Parts: sequence; C-alpha cells; structure tokens
Amino acid sequence: MTEQNIIDLKNITVTFKNGATPVKAVDNVSLAIPRGDIYGIIGYSGAGKSTLVRVINLLQPPTSGTITVNGQNLQQLPPKALRQARKKVGMIFQHFNLMKSRTVLGNVEYPLLSQKITAAERKQKAQKLLALVGLAEYAATYPSQLSGGQKQRVAIARALANDPEVLISDEATSALDPKTTKAILELLEKLHETLDLTIVLITHEMQVIKTICHNVAVMDAGKIIERGRVASVFTDPQQPLTTDFVETSTNVKAAIERITATVKVDELAADQELIYFNFIGNSAKQSIISDLAQQYKIDVNILFANIDQIDGENVGYMIAIITGDLAGFDQAITKLKDNGVKARRLSQPKGAD
Ligand SMILES: Nc1ncnc2c1ncn2[C@@H]1O[C@H](COP(=O)(O)OP(=O)(O)OP(=O)(O)O)[C@@H](O)[C@H]1O
Ligand SMILES: [Mg+2]
Repeated sequence: MTEQNIIDLKNITVTFKNGATPVKAVDNVSLAIPRGDIYGIIGYSGAGKSTLVRVINLLQPPTSGTITVNGQNLQQLPPKALRQARKKVGMIFQHFNLMKSRTVLGNVEYPLLSQKITAAERKQKAQKLLALVGLAEYAATYPSQLSGGQKQRVAIARALANDPEVLISDEATSALDPKTTKAILELLEKLHETLDLTIVLITHEMQVIKTICHNVAVMDAGKIIERGRVASVFTDPQQPLTTDFVETSTNVKAAIERITATVKVDELAADQELIYFNFIGNSAKQSIISDLAQQYKIDVNILFANIDQIDGENVGYMIAIITGDLAGFDQAITKLKDNGVKARRLSQPKGAD
C-alpha cells in the first residue's frame, strides 16, 4: 500500500491563528499520490495549496492528521531521520529563491555542503545537474545575469542535488511567459522520466495541468472539492469551479462570452438553440453533425470548435447553433452520450418565459 503511494496524507487540517479569528488554511484533506505520478493541485489564490504541500515535508506541521512519505510517518521520526527524509523531497517556487552572491554552480552546490563528499565530488555533481537542466555553460554566471527561465533551471538543479524522489513545484512557472513555461514543463517531464521522479505540481492554470499532469486535485477554501484523471476531469468536470478552470484553459469561456455578445440568444428563431458540445475522440465531431442531420433533421452551424490532446485522448469542444426539430434534440443527445458527447444549452429553452 505504502509502496504504491509515495505520499499519503490523511485528514490533514492546518489552522492559523490570525489574531482573534483562526483561519483553516487546510480543512481535513486526505490525499494519496501514486509513486511516479505527475500530480497537479489547482486552485485560486488562498485556497490552501502552498500550505498543503508544505505539510508534505513538514515545513508546515499540521494541526491534525498524519503524513506518510515513502512508507514513513514523518511525525514519528527523530530529528536526524526527519532531516534525511526531507532531503528526498525537493522544492521549487515561483520566485526561484537563488542566492545572489553565489554563482550558478555555487547555488547548486549549496545543498551538498552538508554531505560528506570532497569539494571535487561536490563540484562534479553540481556540474552534472547543470548539464541535466541545460545550463552547463553557465556555471560561473551569477543569478542576476540570467533570464527567469534560466533561473528556474538553476533552482531545479539545486532541488535535485540530494537525489530527491519527490519534486514539489509551487507555481514554478507562474512568473514565466508561455514559451518559457512550456520549456520548463518539458524539462520537468524529462526529469520525471529519466530520474523516476514523482512530481507534485501546484498551479492556478489548467493549461499547465493539461500539459503534463496525469492526475489533478481541485482545491477551494482549504478542501479538495474534486479529483481524478486529468482527461476525465477535463471532459466531465463535476464542480462549477472545475468547469470554470477547464473552460478558461480551453478558450471555451472566452468563446461563449464572445458568441453570446454577438448572437442575440433571445432573438434565435423558435426552431433554434445555441448549444455547447463537449466530447472525447476525433470522430465524435463528425458523428454529432451527421447523426443530428440525418436521423433528427437538425442542422448544425458551428461557431467555435477546438480539439485538445489530453493525457493521450483527443478532447473536443464545440459551440453551435442548431436549427430544426428541437423535440428530437434531447433524444439525439441521449444517443450521442454513448459516443462520449455531452451537450449544454447556452440559450433558454423555448417557451420558458
Ligand atoms: N503562515 C501563515 N500564517 C497565517 N495565515 C496563513 C499563513 N500561511 C497561509 N495563511 C493563510 O492560509 C490560507 C491559505 O494560504 P496558502 O498560501 O496555502 O494559499 P495558496 O492556495 O497557496 O494561495 P496562492 O495561490 O496565492 O499561493 C490563506 O488564507 C492565507 O492567508
Ligand atoms: Mg501558494
């Protein structure tokens, strides 16, 4: 059991006493992270994400609950064993936290200073890590001379110095532009594969989750409100907050706003409706259109369509005006559901007012 889940948090609560009113930053959260996973945690500012992941290496002691990492209950470890266990969990942050007065090499060597190895071995190890993150040439450079993306690479090399089994990334790409974000995510994916790393990745962008995570948990007000495989959360979000994250990252939200601003929804004809379709698989879009047209005599006029690759699956989003026998539409949707198609009305049902 412990072998399968490298991290096992049970009933974690963290309460901060901010003056008179206590803040429950984490509220009875249980979270098991499979060994070798890339596990995303998404939520808006203040949801409790950072507090929760700081519990994983006991940087933040919980008010209650148990923390098991690598089969060890961290709260029961004596100080020396706890220090060892903590080294197996590396961390990177939004603001890199590099030491300005040290060179790039010096920054990566820093966590190795407490190890019983020679200066030459330490240097060799740091250089190897710099090569791994693509910065072999920058050993003698100072952090102030680097771009944000390069700084984050140094921080990643430093986090890997003690050969961690888990890497926690707390908004590591939030200060970077989209292209640099993509490059850093690709690096994390490469490290995940080559070093057998388990990665816990905190973000407020579903785009980041979609790019590299296998599983995702959605946090709101200290609680995990939804969790699962990324592809299933993207195609079938259960909570309004999750739907909001998904529709923002797939551009569906912007499309709905644009379309409802231009198409006068209440001016649609009696035999028309504005519909949002969401589906899995490449062929689904074609089958929506042809099934509706042939069997139900309903025309589909596509206003927006987008197909994403998520966790190996093609996931599609489409907004369309349908015209025809709307009584048959509900029937058609019931049938399309078998092909992984979901539909939602963006216009009010006729005769509702
Ligand atoms: N050391 C602390 N003392 C008191 N309150 C704290 C402390 N750390 C966090 N909090 C409070 O706990 C709540 C959760 O904060 P946390 O930093 O975990 O959120 P977050 O999801 O990481 O947000 P962000 O996306 O802004 O980083 C917030 O209300 C915050 O003000
Ligand atoms: Mg945070």
